[in-house]
Amino acid sequence: MSRLVVVSNRVADPRKSAAGGLAVALGDALNDTGGLWFGWSGRIIEPGQSEGSAPQLQRAGRVTLATVDLSREDHDSYYLGYSNGVLWPVFHYRLDLADFDAGYIAGYRRVNRLFAQKLMTLLHPDDVIWVHDYHLIPLAAELRAMGCTQRIGFFLHIPLPPPQMLAAIPQHEWLIRALFAYDLVGFQSEVDVQHFSRYVRNEADAQVLGEDRYRAFGRTTVAQAFPIGIDVDEFMRLSHAREACETYDTMREQYSRRRLLIGVDRLDYSKGIPHRVRAFRELLKHYPENRNSATLIQIASPTRESVDAYADIRQELEGLCGAINGDYGELDWMPVRYIHRTVARKRIPGLCRAADVGLVTPLRDGMNLVAKEYIAAQNPEDPGVLVLSRFAGAAEQLKEALLVNPYDVHGTAEAIQQALRMPLEERVRRHQKLLARIREHDVHWWRRRFLDTLAQAGD
Ligand code: G6P
Repeated sequence: MSRLVVVSNRVADPRKSAAGGLAVALGDALNDTGGLWFGWSGRIIEPGQSEGSAPQLQRAGRVTLATVDLSREDHDSYYLGYSNGVLWPVFHYRLDLADFDAGYIAGYRRVNRLFAQKLMTLLHPDDVIWVHDYHLIPLAAELRAMGCTQRIGFFLHIPLPPPQMLAAIPQHEWLIRALFAYDLVGFQSEVDVQHFSRYVRNEADAQVLGEDRYRAFGRTTVAQAFPIGIDVDEFMRLSHAREACETYDTMREQYSRRRLLIGVDRLDYSKGIPHRVRAFRELLKHYPENRNSATLIQIASPTRESVDAYADIRQELEGLCGAINGDYGELDWMPVRYIHRTVARKRIPGLCRAADVGLVTPLRDGMNLVAKEYIAAQNPEDPGVLVLSRFAGAAEQLKEALLVNPYDVHGTAEAIQQALRMPLEERVRRHQKLLARIREHDVHWWRRRFLDTLAQAGD
C-alpha cells in the first residue's frame, strides 16, 4: 500500500490538542492511516541564528512529523504577508482588507520552493502526496519541476471567491495555473467548485472534459467538492471524558436559572464575531425577557496578531463587549463573557453541551467545524440549537440548523430568540437529522473519498 504524505503549513502532534480546524482534521485523518506529515515547525530563525538544513523528524504514534524552520524574512513575507495578508482576505471576500505589497510574492514562492526541495529528500516512489490549503498552492508545480511524478492532490480548506474577486489578486493567473500541476483539486463546497469552473473557462479557456475534468495550460486536473467533517466518535468520547464533564457541571451550576449561548472561534475577522455580539445586544434590547438571563460566552483565541486587521478586530470587539456589559450588566450578572485565550480542547465539548444555543455566524467560512462539533456534543434527549451562517460551507449540509445572514443583525437576533424558545420536540427532531448528516459525512469519509478519487484521477 502507498504511504500517505500530508503537507500543510501548520503541523501538530495528532495525539495532542491543536487549535484550528485544519490541524485537528488532518490529525484525525492521519491517525487512521499513519504516514508522513510535512510542514512548518512553528519556529522562526532570527537573523544571525543558524538554520538547520534537513527537516526535523519526530515520531507521533503512527505518524512521522517532518518539519522545517522559517527565517524571519520568509515567515513575514510568506506566512504573514502573502498567505494571510493577501490570499486569506481575498479568498474570504474581503478585498478591503488585502495588503497587496509587491514584496510578499517572492517570499511565498521561495518558501514553496524550499518546502518542495526538503520534501523531495523524504519521498518514496509510490507515495501519495496530499497538499493542504492556501499557503501551498504552488507546491506541486515546484515538485513537478524537480522531477516528482507521484500522484499529488490539493485541498483548499477556505472558500474560493467568484472569478471577479479572484482577479483582484495581481498574480491570479499564476495561482490558478499552479493548481493544474495537481491531479486532483478539492474544495469544501459546490459553490467553490462553481467559482473554479467559471474562472478557468472564462480566464484560461479551459476545456471541460466530462463533469469534473478540466484541461488548461497543457494539463488536465479534476476538481470536486469534498466537504470536510469531524471525527464524531472521538469528539463524543471527548464529551464524556472527565474534563468535559467537569466543565459541563460547572457551567450548568453557574447558569442553572439562566440561558447560555456559546461562540468558539479564532479571533478572525472572517468569523463575524462583532456582528454576532451586535445581534446579541439586539436580542437584549428587543426581548427584555432575556435580560439578566441570556449570557453569551465568546471564546476568541488569539491568532495572527501581527497582521493589522487582526489587531483592529480585537479592538472593535473589546469595545463592543464592554459597552454591552456596561449597558445591561447587573451586580450579579454580565451579559457577555469574552475570553481572549485558547481554551483547552478537552473542555470545549462540555461547554458546547451546556449551551442552549451554539452561535456559528461567520461572514464567510470554508466549512466551519465548530458547527459540527456543537452538534456532536449535544445531549440527544435535550439538545441545544445551532444558529448557523448561510455563508459557512457547513450550511450546504446542515439545513436543519437555523440559517441566518450574519450581516443582518436584526434577523440574527430573531433567530437567536427562536432558538431560545424552540420546543423540545422540534429541537430533538432537528438534532437527529443534523447528527445523522455529520455522522454520514465524517472526517474518515472525507479522507477516503478524497484519496479514492485521487487514486483514480489522471488515469
Ligand atoms: C484556518 C486555515 C488553516 C490554519 C488555521 C489556523 O483553519 O484554513 O490553514 O492552519 O486557520 O491558522 P494559523 O494561521 O494559526 O495556522
